[in-house]
Amino acid sequence: MDFRIDSTALEQLAADCVIVGVYEEQKMTSAALTLDAHFDQALSELMARGDITGKPGDSLPLNWLPGQQVRCLLLVGLGKAGAVRPKDFRKALAAAAQYVRAGRMKSLACAMLDVEINQRDVAWRARQIVQVFSDGLYQFNELKSKVEKPVTIERIMLPVAETDRAAAESGLQQGQAIAEAVDLAKRLADLPGNICTPAYLAETAKVQGQSIAGLEVNILEQADLERLNMGAFLAVSRGSRQPPKLIEMHYHGGQNTVKPIVLVGKGLTFDAGGISLKPGQGMDEMKYDMCGGAAVIATVAAAAKLKLPINLIGLVPASENLPDGDANKPGDILTSMSGKTIEVLNTDAEGRLILCDTLTYAERFDPDVVIDLATLTGACLVALGRVPSGLLGNDDVLCQDLLAAGEMASDSVWRLPLWEEYQELLKSNFADMANIGGRDAGTITAACFLARFAEPFRWAHLDIAGTAWRSGDNKGATGRPVPLLLQYLFNRANT
Ligand code: BES
Ligand code: MN
Ligand code: ZN
Repeated sequence: MDFRIDSTALEQLAADCVIVGVYEEQKMTSAALTLDAHFDQALSELMARGDITGKPGDSLPLNWLPGQQVRCLLLVGLGKAGAVRPKDFRKALAAAAQYVRAGRMKSLACAMLDVEINQRDVAWRARQIVQVFSDGLYQFNELKSKVEKPVTIERIMLPVAETDRAAAESGLQQGQAIAEAVDLAKRLADLPGNICTPAYLAETAKVQGQSIAGLEVNILEQADLERLNMGAFLAVSRGSRQPPKLIEMHYHGGQNTVKPIVLVGKGLTFDAGGISLKPGQGMDEMKYDMCGGAAVIATVAAAAKLKLPINLIGLVPASENLPDGDANKPGDILTSMSGKTIEVLNTDAEGRLILCDTLTYAERFDPDVVIDLATLTGACLVALGRVPSGLLGNDDVLCQDLLAAGEMASDSVWRLPLWEEYQELLKSNFADMANIGGRDAGTITAACFLARFAEPFRWAHLDIAGTAWRSGDNKGATGRPVPLLLQYLFNRANT
């Protein structure tokens, strides 16, 4: 898909579909007003008749008669003029993307850069247009033998007023980088466990490293993990025939004296639960247990491609969690890389086991901050549903920065408390700690477990169990929290 900023006058645009926004109460955006004048007040009439209300996401296609340069004019509702919220804007764009997808359009003009949204500038609007269209047009068909001819949109033009051109260009460029990263994260996540193995994730990271200047990728093999005494990580992979990998990505875009930001992503390419086997229903979705890892690979690659002036390290522990004669068992006691011992009371709480050794490993990079992302607990869905990701951490400033980045990126997070009172729930009679805390506060006790390994640095944890993919008819990866992470990195790059 080729997005470009365009300053052709709206009336002269040639495209299969031109998309313009309208407000409630028969108010129009400036693009709609221009077209209304050009077409003898046709839009005013339609709105007066009530054919379109202007409510967010409401839409009305006007199909042209033969001989016109434009096949369809699509009006999309934005809500009340002066009170359009970021989510209304995204809803309008998503409705347009759905329409375009169904209509198999080839070229579009999205005249939506003129929509006024409180606290959001034209660069933000350009970013969102690229992201929402790219998201809406994503398809994962590569494993179907008979594919319906894919919808390919060749060109999306974004008409812009000359004064906004530079800002729109920079938003467009960022939007494309974000969209590309989201796409990679989604594709890796949608791939099934028999294809997307730990080795496949490692290979993907390596290919990114070969194709992006300044990005270095190094894979730690099982023997390396043994040498590092990563007893917790290794225990998880014992039951699998696929060797574990610890993927390490380095991008050095800042000064030597600046400490790196470290991203850690859970890369469980399939989580059957191990000996504490999960029930069969919906187990296929545990191929998505590597979404944190995919987000790290995609985010670090995008930051390097954009040459952000930051130092960034991505770490992805990748493994499967399967039952086997050699698998770890409930009651087993593991010695983690840190030396702390862990009683495994449930082999299905494996994410924290591969993450805790990776957090200990992160210490050697003297990080400025460490942010881990993991589809860690089903309890996060109970607490927060599928709207925000869960956020917990040991540093208020970092948590605040992530909340703000999530808000700006429309990729929200919500903070849960990480108070020491919860730590008691991890008490073990036989080891330093248990790997589960019981029924209560499952997302918090999982984070409490990680916190014990994150004491040496400023750290935040994103539980993306509810946000990394959708279930049901529309099952598929979302690419979250890549937009949040890139926004956070953009913010860090500017300060
Ligand atoms: N990957 C799962 C968490 C998960 C479950 C994410 C369902 C999304 C949907 C994780 O490894 C897990 O199994 N967690 C257990 C922890 C429990 C044993 C304390 C869970 O959430 O049930
Ligand atoms: Mn599990
Ligand atoms: Zn898991």
